[in-house]
Amino acid sequence: MAHSNVHAVTSVRNSEVRRDDAPANADEFSGDTNASYGQVLRTLSDGSVHRRFDPYLDIDWESPDFQIDPADKRWILPPADPLGRHPWYLAQSEEKQIAIGIWRQANMCRVGLHFEQLLIRGLMQYMFSLKNGDPEFRYITHEAAEECNHTLMFQELVNRAGVDVPGMGPVDRKLTLAIWPAVRFFPTWFFTMIIGGEEPIDHLQKTVLRSGGQVHPLLERIMQIHIAEESRHISFAHEYLRRHVTGMGTVGRFALSLLTPLTFRIMGDMIAVPPAEFRKTFGIPRSVIRELYWKSPESRETLQNIFADVRALAWDTGLMNPIARRLWKLLAIDGPISRYRSEPTAEQVRIARLSQSA
Ligand SMILES: [Fe+2]
Ligand SMILES: [Fe+2]
Repeated sequence: MAHSNVHAVTSVRNSEVRRDDAPANADEFSGDTNASYGQVLRTLSDGSVHRRFDPYLDIDWESPDFQIDPADKRWILPPADPLGRHPWYLAQSEEKQIAIGIWRQANMCRVGLHFEQLLIRGLMQYMFSLKNGDPEFRYITHEAAEECNHTLMFQELVNRAGVDVPGMGPVDRKLTLAIWPAVRFFPTWFFTMIIGGEEPIDHLQKTVLRSGGQVHPLLERIMQIHIAEESRHISFAHEYLRRHVTGMGTVGRFALSLLTPLTFRIMGDMIAVPPAEFRKTFGIPRSVIRELYWKSPESRETLQNIFADVRALAWDTGLMNPIARRLWKLLAIDGPISRYRSEPTAEQVRIARLSQSA
């Protein structure tokens, strides 16, 4: 499929594309759908110019408070991390809890940077075919520059943590081969993959920061910067899909409606589930990992909550047909939709209470 020419993209009101049986609050979720696509891209580009961060200017890596010390209790996983509130973890020695915490956080950063690298490559490939004057070029280039900065800050933390974490596992690396044909032949699927990576990271980081629990200040700073810039990226990906999916043919849209939950579920696992090395390095029982990802009712709620925003997007873009809905349910990522982007979930409120009382 050729990239849609943005000049031909017209503003489509959500009500024209949404199914009648969409949840009642679907309208409140969508932003200003009357603004032209070019206008939205200009606003986002202005944000990238005036509200941006540099990993070496905005993070004081040499601050004594930002040093990574293997005896620092602030690396103990907070209750906001499912492992951090698991009885097995709580029964370990303080020293081991810290070691697990450093490894886990460093690996999350490493997975994040692997994902960003793939995303940057995909975005560059996507832009190669954009025509002169296409406003997507400027915004997407700003976004790619921000993602490069994110890889710098993630790798800097990993290097300073002093643990040789693997990041994405070998199977996950193979799955990423789907990106190249998607960019070329099915760009709306590529942007679905982008959201599939960005939303889980954003949701998990927000859960930690919203909990108000103890977080190492370096990690906290990195998360703050990442969340601030990702909100732009996520807005763009949502906007891209809202504008482009509505112009797709019936067959393409049906295929995307099935690929969407599959992609989200696979990518959610890629980001949230720790690799086998983690379990082996710290002797974590398989049963603990199974429970956390995603056998226990509590963990299933987490999995569903990660995708509350994108479920709203799927309704909004007409991707929730009866078969797709069954697939969302089968993959255990069905559930209510957000009333507005990043609406705090009941689970996040509970975790915040737990963190305050810890
Ligand atoms: Fe990022
Ligand atoms: Fe991003």
